[in-house]
Amino acid sequence: MEVVFKIHRFDPSKDVSPYYKQYKITIDKGTTVLEALLYIKERLDNSLAIRYSCRMGICGSCGMRINGIPMLACKTQVSMLKSNIILIEPLSNNPIIKDLVTNFSNLFAKHKMIKPYIIRKDSELDNPTREYLQKPNEFFNILQFALCIKCGLCWSACPISSDNRYLGPFVLAQAYRYISDSRDDGYNERFDIIDSPHGCWRCHFAGSCSQVCPRGVDPALAIQLLKKSITTTKLGLKKIKTAAPVAPPLTEVTRKLDVPQPPPRTVFKNQRDSTNER
Ligand code: FES
Repeated sequence: MEVVFKIHRFDPSKDVSPYYKQYKITIDKGTTVLEALLYIKERLDNSLAIRYSCRMGICGSCGMRINGIPMLACKTQVSMLKSNIILIEPLSNNPIIKDLVTNFSNLFAKHKMIKPYIIRKDSELDNPTREYLQKPNEFFNILQFALCIKCGLCWSACPISSDNRYLGPFVLAQAYRYISDSRDDGYNERFDIIDSPHGCWRCHFAGSCSQVCPRGVDPALAIQLLKKSITTTKLGLKKIKTAAPVAPPLTEVTRKLDVPQPPPRTVFKNQRDSTNER
């Protein structure tokens, strides 16, 4: 199938304004957008700037707008787009470094502000003895939010994120992921930043962040749960969480004698003849 890729080009060091350049290539049934862009870069125009790494939807570095929708180029097959003209643009709401590559520094600085790691009041993190206890239901509470790959698609899709002061969907989802982790004790340390004028209250619940997430994370849900948590805290209704204790040392496991034993062997090695050999 012949497809025309209309690609956003902009080099801030020499271009006055962005422009679009078209490349016509032939693709196979399973060709991904990333493979098509790499073909263009290798065969037609090596000045095209693209960012990618894993090529399998894990690293989150190949995010771009494909026909106007934020997607991972490595996870999107051209044939799925049902169009033979594909518009390729960089993610919105980030400064452009070159062509399709944007600068995530502001986003990662905000991510750092919400302390995206387990915080404890005890000294276990400094001098670890054993792992923390976490029950399966406590793990499943945070699992979907822990799947976030920080690709920035939610940030690009969010109508509020054009105000760069807003913390944004993935940062707030990560804040929720840590404060709701049964092992974490850092709710108070994150409270002020989440409750700030550019924290969770800026979200208008458009929900586009959750629609575009390539990992099935629901940042819109996390943000609403943050609002609930802050409201109940301010009303004095929030249950104070006690961080999970350290797991007790393992005790020696002794073999239970009532465990069913395998049936006795019918042939022993020194009795095997050639017909019994396997
Ligand atoms: S290259 Fe890693 S997610 Fe696409």
